Amino acid sequence: HEPNPGVIERYRAYLPVTDRTPVVTLAEGWTPLMPAPRLARALEAPVDLYLKVEGANPTGSFKDRGMTVAVSLALESGARIVACASTGNTSASAAAYAARAGMRAVVLVPKGAVARGKLAQAVHLGARVLEVEGNFDAALRLVRELTAALPIRLVNSVNPHRLEGQKTAAFEVCDQLGCVPEFVALPVGNAGNITAYWMGFREYQARGQIDRLPRMLGFQAEGAAPIVRGAPVPDPETVATAIRIGNPASWQRAVEARDASGGRIEAVSDGEILSAYHRVAALEGVFCEPASAASVAGVARLAREGFFRGGERVVCVLTGHGLKDPDRAVGEAPPPQVVPDELGAVTGALEDLLA
Ligand code: F0G
Repeated sequence: HEPNPGVIERYRAYLPVTDRTPVVTLAEGWTPLMPAPRLARALEAPVDLYLKVEGANPTGSFKDRGMTVAVSLALESGARIVACASTGNTSASAAAYAARAGMRAVVLVPKGAVARGKLAQAVHLGARVLEVEGNFDAALRLVRELTAALPIRLVNSVNPHRLEGQKTAAFEVCDQLGCVPEFVALPVGNAGNITAYWMGFREYQARGQIDRLPRMLGFQAEGAAPIVRGAPVPDPETVATAIRIGNPASWQRAVEARDASGGRIEAVSDGEILSAYHRVAALEGVFCEPASAASVAGVARLAREGFFRGGERVVCVLTGHGLKDPDRAVGEAPPPQVVPDELGAVTGALEDLLA
């Protein structure tokens, strides 16, 4: 068993790197693809369900796939500072890869709207964190202006190197499953990831690795669903703070991925997201963050509507780790029962389990 070399070495032939590119890696990628039969049964989804556990990446989200490529190429080109706007995960990832490369990271986050684990992570990883008095869309506009005016490399997904790295997740799904799933479901925020997956599948087909394409299912939160509504949302709101975005940068390309694949982009409510968040953890042992659960909530919704014919392989991408958002994790968990230091009390507390 070889150690994981990271996505650049694993998929070098598909990436815009050369022998001269200094590879900045934290051994990202090759994350688990896990069958989820208990979850499928609970959702009454008559499908062969899989979870792509992207929270298993080094900084706890899929962003690491794009960041290894973006930071490696930034380093090669002589950049010393990278910058991004972020709802949290991109900032933690940029900070980690910049630290690894001996570079500095500047991150602009919407004030008071980022899960605390992500913010603390970025600070520990050495980033300069600025809280913008505005939402993510404002932060993205500002960081575009900043990086246009100064010698700072933009590492949001509007940097094409990010999507190049992220497309490796599509390759992995095919390589791990040994075939092409009928559907791939994922949460949609800035719409970079759905774009990257679609790029990846198409490229794998063009290179003869697969002979057909999956249908792409994207899910936005109801209060932050500009693509579903067909208009920007000025004040996006959702418990899934990672995808609280009102004007996605890759909007058009996400629509193209949906239409070209015969897929869907739909909205799910915060209630549906939190219900999926609980169920994935309790039924399959995978704790993801609320935004990630939007993929499962969406598949549950489609199953209820009778969308699936039965037997299709469906991959839900769980984009980030549950501990990223400790406030939500603690807030949604009933406090433990306190018992006296006495065996009878312990067995008494477990009566319902043992019945
Ligand atoms: N899931 C998680 C956990 C995310 O952090 C994000 C995006 C998405 C889904 C949506 O992916 O934007 O490519 O459509 N997070 C970005 C960030 C915006 O700044 O960390 P997308």
